[in-house]
Amino acid sequence: MDIHSEKILILDFGSQYTQLIARRIREAKVYCEIHPFNSGLASVRAFDPKGIILSGGPSSVYDKGAPMIGKEIFDLGVPVLGICYGMQLTAKLLGGKVERSSKREYGGADLVIENAGDLFTGLGLGSTKVWMSHGDRVEALPPGFKTIARSANSDICAMRDAARKIYGVQFHPEVVHTPKGDRILKNFLFQVCALKPAWTMKSFIETSIAEIRAKAGDDRVVCGISGGVDSAVAALLVHKAIGANLTCIFVDNGVLRKGEADKVEATLKKSFHMNIRRVNASARFLKKLKGVEDPERKRKIIGGEFVRVFEAEARKIKNVKFLAQGTLYPDVIESVSFKGPSATIKSHHNVGGLLKKMKLKLVEPLRELFKDEVRSLGREMGMPDEIIDRQPFPGPGLAIRIIGEVTKKRCDILREADAIVLEEIKSAGLYKKMWQSFAVLLPIRTVGVMGDERTYENTVALRAVESVDGMTADWVKLPYEVMESISRRVINEVRGVNRVVYDISSKPPSTIEWE
Ligand code: XMP
Repeated sequence: MDIHSEKILILDFGSQYTQLIARRIREAKVYCEIHPFNSGLASVRAFDPKGIILSGGPSSVYDKGAPMIGKEIFDLGVPVLGICYGMQLTAKLLGGKVERSSKREYGGADLVIENAGDLFTGLGLGSTKVWMSHGDRVEALPPGFKTIARSANSDICAMRDAARKIYGVQFHPEVVHTPKGDRILKNFLFQVCALKPAWTMKSFIETSIAEIRAKAGDDRVVCGISGGVDSAVAALLVHKAIGANLTCIFVDNGVLRKGEADKVEATLKKSFHMNIRRVNASARFLKKLKGVEDPERKRKIIGGEFVRVFEAEARKIKNVKFLAQGTLYPDVIESVSFKGPSATIKSHHNVGGLLKKMKLKLVEPLRELFKDEVRSLGREMGMPDEIIDRQPFPGPGLAIRIIGEVTKKRCDILREADAIVLEEIKSAGLYKKMWQSFAVLLPIRTVGVMGDERTYENTVALRAVESVDGMTADWVKLPYEVMESISRRVINEVRGVNRVVYDISSKPPSTIEWE
């Protein structure tokens, strides 16, 4: 079965929750994509969705330059669900009245359902908690619509045109603060749009393998492996499709963690018999980094050097026509978003030049997936937890965790300290519970005593944070015993360190990495 034939289109009007809508729909095993609100009717038609969701957004429908669509979208014969701004827009376009309000309604509210059935199937009549975040509200229904729920603050909290299958809800069903929101979205998918839950990782693997085979044919593909979960899963999927025609290149840039290169190579080679070329380029990278203190320059140097080393290695392989990459859906959404790519997304290795110079085409088998889907895809293909559950690690590696100049000696000190941090965090059973936990090497030396001797050595900062997506983060309240054993072991076992401190800053206003 073609898993892409039954899909939902989400038109994005700029809500911070738009990605959450997509997550919820994917979790319900229905494929969906987010497109900018202004992609145009022809593109909507071409996508051929079985249902359309109009997202929320920060604007008022009365704002000058507020995001608008043509009302022809309601004539496609496809069910539509407008959420918050999406509902107000629906009301305005179809002839209802939206009241401009200066006061925002923000937070929990009681939704009183007046018409159980389709969108509210299984919720019963009566009240249920929902999450509100809106300024304007619908004051008068457009012709053909009926109210199906209200709240203390608005008489029209949910509306429907049963004949045309057009719905609007003032609240946000996609957030966890709307406990029954999941059921409401599922009702839209399964009751209203009559979809089936067919989007599973198993079906995704089958479809992707067929697509990769059709695209690559008998040509060869190269893929850069970083040690992270995205590139490993992308490579494994391509390997399943074309086997020995895939060559993976793993560049050891000298700023990797202890034993990392060996581990990744061993796993992919032994368990999956993949073709891996490991290039030890440590000396090259460290030479270029000599004397450099500015983190942005470190990033540029490492990115640029990576591309050069990768190219030299890729040129040794005959008939290479494709470059496989582990680009994920959030990167794709960012790059097509009408808001423009956000500054918070970290730049990827700049492979644009490489593609041009070597005349390569891209294979990006994970472009449709969110991070947790990539993890379940990896698991489904038998990838070990050790790779799947890895905490994120920045591309420029230890270079941005060594504050000041990066030297081989300082890399070695940090590598040892970092290995102890990870060992202790893992043995305390905390590794998977946090976003990141690592050591930072500071550019200061302080006095200590060891035995009878005075020492004048380095300070290591310990950083452990909880986060959902890396955009915001809070420091982890680590148990004292764990901090104690980390500190004791680092100071005793790592030569050159006589002090360990704990970072208790959250993001914002701090960042996760120190740089
Ligand atoms: P910050 O330090 O900005 O980090 O709070 C947020 C997340 O991004 C990771 N990070 C990077 N990842 N290249 C990367 O691939 C980079 O240059 C980079 N800088 C930060 C960081 O580890 C955290 O997960």
